[in-house]
Amino acid sequence: MSSFSENTTNQHPDRTHTCGELSEFHLGEQVVLKGWVDTRRDLGGVIFIDLRDRYGLTQIVFSPQDNPAAHEFADRLRSEYVISITGTVSLRSEETVNPILATGKIEVRVTSLLILAESEPPPFSISSHTQKAKLASEDLRLKYRYLDLRRPDLRNKMILRHQVYQVIHRYFDAEGFLEVETPTLMKSTPEGARDYLVPSRVHPGSFYALPQSPQTYKQLLMIGGLDKYVQIVKCFRDEDLRADRQPEFTQIDVEMAFATEEAIYSLTEGLMAMLWEEVLGVTIPTPFPRLTYQDAIWKYGSDKPDLRFDLPICNLSSTFENSGFRVFDQALSAGGSVLGLVIPGFGDKGRGYMDRLDKTVVRKQIGAGGLIHVRIPSDGTPPNCSVKAHVLPDEFVTGAIQSSGADTGDLLLVLCGKWPTVQEQMGTLRLHMARELGSIDERAWTFAWITEFPLLQWDEREKRYSAMHHPFTSPRTEDLELLQHDPAHVRARAYDIVLNGMEIGGGSIRIHDKNVQKQMFDALGIPKKESEERFGFLLNALRYGAPPHGGIAMGLDRIVMLLSRSTSLRDVIAFPKTQSAQEPMSGTPSTVERDRLQELNIQSIPKSE
Ligand code: AMO
Repeated sequence: MSSFSENTTNQHPDRTHTCGELSEFHLGEQVVLKGWVDTRRDLGGVIFIDLRDRYGLTQIVFSPQDNPAAHEFADRLRSEYVISITGTVSLRSEETVNPILATGKIEVRVTSLLILAESEPPPFSISSHTQKAKLASEDLRLKYRYLDLRRPDLRNKMILRHQVYQVIHRYFDAEGFLEVETPTLMKSTPEGARDYLVPSRVHPGSFYALPQSPQTYKQLLMIGGLDKYVQIVKCFRDEDLRADRQPEFTQIDVEMAFATEEAIYSLTEGLMAMLWEEVLGVTIPTPFPRLTYQDAIWKYGSDKPDLRFDLPICNLSSTFENSGFRVFDQALSAGGSVLGLVIPGFGDKGRGYMDRLDKTVVRKQIGAGGLIHVRIPSDGTPPNCSVKAHVLPDEFVTGAIQSSGADTGDLLLVLCGKWPTVQEQMGTLRLHMARELGSIDERAWTFAWITEFPLLQWDEREKRYSAMHHPFTSPRTEDLELLQHDPAHVRARAYDIVLNGMEIGGGSIRIHDKNVQKQMFDALGIPKKESEERFGFLLNALRYGAPPHGGIAMGLDRIVMLLSRSTSLRDVIAFPKTQSAQEPMSGTPSTVERDRLQELNIQSIPKSE
């Protein structure tokens, strides 16, 4: 039978195989395939088409010898046409075998073709053969996201994400967790960002908040006796966006009654080990190393240090005490620090390099006041400090070389300033220099726990403390008495999990005592009336036998991003938002009609007013 038609009523039987399935084991079989025209080549009258679907590519052949009518009809096929074909599986000629393709040894010689849908020329090439370098701009690809999703690269990331979901469900089920859904229209939970608000039509002037996280609900589930909760859940945060931040993102949200930090660590490590094993076939050693917040900031200048390389920061404050160098003296007398970073083998760098590092990297990108450096030439000639000896005496430079452990041929970089700004600046410089040194092992998976976070941080703008994690985080028992008179030094029972320099999760043991919760609200300067209004339901629940409990939330998008070695969250979310929180394909957000606003008792005020 041979038929060639283009109507959309599907006259062909269901597909017998997908486009990623056929091999030499199917030789001679009659098959039905359906998919998109990926590429089309006309070689001496024979038309070769790569037919694409979710599963792969299969070469199909229209030959005038096999079937002149089929060949003539195939001439009309263009990129992204959707077709159905019947044909016979045959072996490719030796020279056309494609060892990279799963179906690369065979081709299907077409006997019947049906066009299921034509396609206008797509706005950009989505063929599997398009090189990464030749990809259309991201804006254009986001506008036509449904076309971009046809690209194997993006499709494979969606498949990987699906695998991640499946592992999560299996893992937590086996561990005895219950999946419970929590509301999306809820009362605001503070996680440090702005809420997305949804106006209530029924209660004019009242608003629901979309969850920044289901934090309060998961605690209430523990008070409700459900013991172990997990949910793959959407969270919404109206905050400045970056490559690793989306306004709506997904958490693997977990809570356990009677949990200690150790229980959460080993539960999380087990999940990570299973994910890496099942998705990538990589064995991740557990337990993960632990680092206190203080050590992470002092040694690596970040609470999410990249530990794929060492390059530790050293504290040179005592070395430079009373050096007479005004810049250091001022920083130290204001309670700040002088920090050093040794860059091995960079001691012979020239003036031009050092100037660029100072001006472009340190001042412009990092925003520090300026860089001081000591070059120690490899030929044994005396060290060369960027500050002249009459301003900073040699003995201090020699002292700094000794305390930092810098050696012949090394470069010592020095910054000074206030805690924790200078540490963070040095942390950014550390990352920059590691890239310059080429010392980041891109294949490494380096996990770590950051522990003993401060409970509170001083908010200079608001002139009050804010919670470093969230206000339900328990202080360490031994620090509780500090809460009233020295809140800055209270350590929290909070932890973050970090992978390759990215925070992939965070959590804490919670406050389960209503008096401690009240003390916490006091320390945060939340008036009693306000705390009752905002969190009265939780405070109430704490009066009725709340078990000690704790949990963690992991950023699922970030985990998928790292597992798939992507550089942006947008690559692992089917329909992501842009940097400006828009979705270009559907044009979200959009204005709404006046009537709709009136119904909601809302008036829109133009920005210029
Ligand atoms: P936290 O605010 O640390 O904790 O969030 C947990 C994890 O979620 C991920 N994440 C994000 N991912 C993408 N885009 C964002 N805008 C974004 N914000 C956060 C990060 C982060 O580590 N309720 C607490 C958890 C708890 O205490 O159990 C919470 O939400 O990977």
